Amino acid sequence: MSTKEEFFAHIEEGYKTKGDFITMGAAMLEGETITGAHVKIPLKTLNRHGLIAGATGTGKTKTLQIIAENLSEKGIPVLLMDLKGDLSGIAEPSPGHPKIDERHEKIGIPFTPKDFPIEILSLSEQDGVKLRATVSEFGPVLLSRILDLSTVQEGIVAVVFKYCDDNKLPLLDLKDFKKVLQYATGEGKKEFSKDYGRISTSSTGTILRKVIELEQQGADLFFGEKSFDVDDLTRIDENGRGIINIIRLTDIQDRPKLFSTFMLSLLAEIYDSFPEQGDSDRPELIFFVDEAHLIFKEASKALLGQIESIVKLIRSKGVGLYFVTQNPTDVPGAVLSQLGLKVQHALRAFTAKDRKAIKLTAENYPLSDYYDTKQVLTSLGIGEALITALDEKGRPTPLAATMLRAPMSRMDILSDSELKEVIGASKLVEKYNKEIDRESAYEILSEKIEKAEKLAEKEQKRSEGTSTKRTSSRRRSTRQNPVIKVLTSATFIRGVLGVLKKVIR
Ligand SMILES: Nc1ncnc2c1ncn2[C@@H]1O[C@H](COP(=O)(O)OP(=O)(O)O)[C@@H](O)[C@H]1O
Ligand SMILES: [Mg+2]
Repeated sequence: MSTKEEFFAHIEEGYKTKGDFITMGAAMLEGETITGAHVKIPLKTLNRHGLIAGATGTGKTKTLQIIAENLSEKGIPVLLMDLKGDLSGIAEPSPGHPKIDERHEKIGIPFTPKDFPIEILSLSEQDGVKLRATVSEFGPVLLSRILDLSTVQEGIVAVVFKYCDDNKLPLLDLKDFKKVLQYATGEGKKEFSKDYGRISTSSTGTILRKVIELEQQGADLFFGEKSFDVDDLTRIDENGRGIINIIRLTDIQDRPKLFSTFMLSLLAEIYDSFPEQGDSDRPELIFFVDEAHLIFKEASKALLGQIESIVKLIRSKGVGLYFVTQNPTDVPGAVLSQLGLKVQHALRAFTAKDRKAIKLTAENYPLSDYYDTKQVLTSLGIGEALITALDEKGRPTPLAATMLRAPMSRMDILSDSELKEVIGASKLVEKYNKEIDRESAYEILSEKIEKAEKLAEKEQKRSEGTSTKRTSSRRRSTRQNPVIKVLTSATFIRGVLGVLKKVIR
């Protein structure tokens, strides 16, 4: 047997699957594509997470596009965090290109241009389905982690949530939260210290400052109603294809805190509401984070810990997380070690630091009789990558330098008018984009304070007339709570314990 035949058999054996799979492309040996030596990923192990890495322009985002469209075709919904706005083209078929035909001929799979069903979501002022969550739903634990609070400050946040729960004050947006925080050391000081212990003004001051910092990153757009129901991420279209949800994040690149806040809350909510999957043949939802270094770069230790836990746990819900970033070292080791699929595009070896990263990366891949991994890492072409996945038994598949297939959809983004059309046709936009500002903690407390002040004024006047008589009616009046029918107790309980109650520690 020639080396080539041997290699073909090696790949065929290593990537054999019993169940359904997606095909990434064909394996390459010494720069030559071995037609028909297909590199396949079983649907069964897609919930084991993954990494797509490589230097700029090597094809990472296209790899993401390929996986996403092939999953959609298999009826698996996808969520894409699109930080550069590269991915909307998925909604239109590829115009094709002789180079693409050539590529597919080498791989040995036909090329068929196709479009895919997409939904555009947004975290900011941009068009699309508005993604929101209430502060109550977000919960004290996650809020404290995001704000990077000390244990003492975290305790205060918990008390604020508890107070609101006890008094049926809905915490919808950050305005509500700030109001209660101010109230706790201001007008409501006595009431708070009686029932929950004394709260220091300097602590609330620090928390307040951090909330304002978060607001400055645009978080006020995210917190509020109507909160997004994560079940809407798992829709299938009328032809049985998974909907590809694209979250446009082009305008939050420079606001990493908002980005990580949002991502974590989404994951926590998914974790909380998706059922346990057991040993399933296919994932429920695949979640891609493009330009993932942005979430890790500025994340606090507490936040990283949270990401680590959720990565570990969310697998059991049939959710796979895929990080797309330039260098594998952008991803913390504890997360990296949990990733089943690795797609490594070319790395550049310009500096000593680059060379060190290449060495480290190579060491993280299975050994191969066919490749000098370090050498391959620097010589891969555009749209080629080193791949290792997990087979159906959970074992790493053989390392394969892969000529990747081309996206069936357009590699270029949608025009403004095309985008408008997609958004105009969306049912979710209708469902979520109404502005709601219900009566919540802010309004209720403001009213309460105002009432108390008026009462005090009256009493002041009265006592000026009758001199001596003292009264406790001010105290009594502050204890009256307006009766309101809001938030079910279930939401409150979840808010109080924190959505992440099962994931912490
Ligand atoms: N699988 C592929 N098939 C065909 N062309 C590709 C493929 N991957 C990358 N390319 C080409 O390379 C360019 C850069 O790819 P891109 O995914 O945007 O790189 P990155 O995200 O790594 O910066 C694309 O615009 C496309 O022309
Ligand atoms: Mg990219």
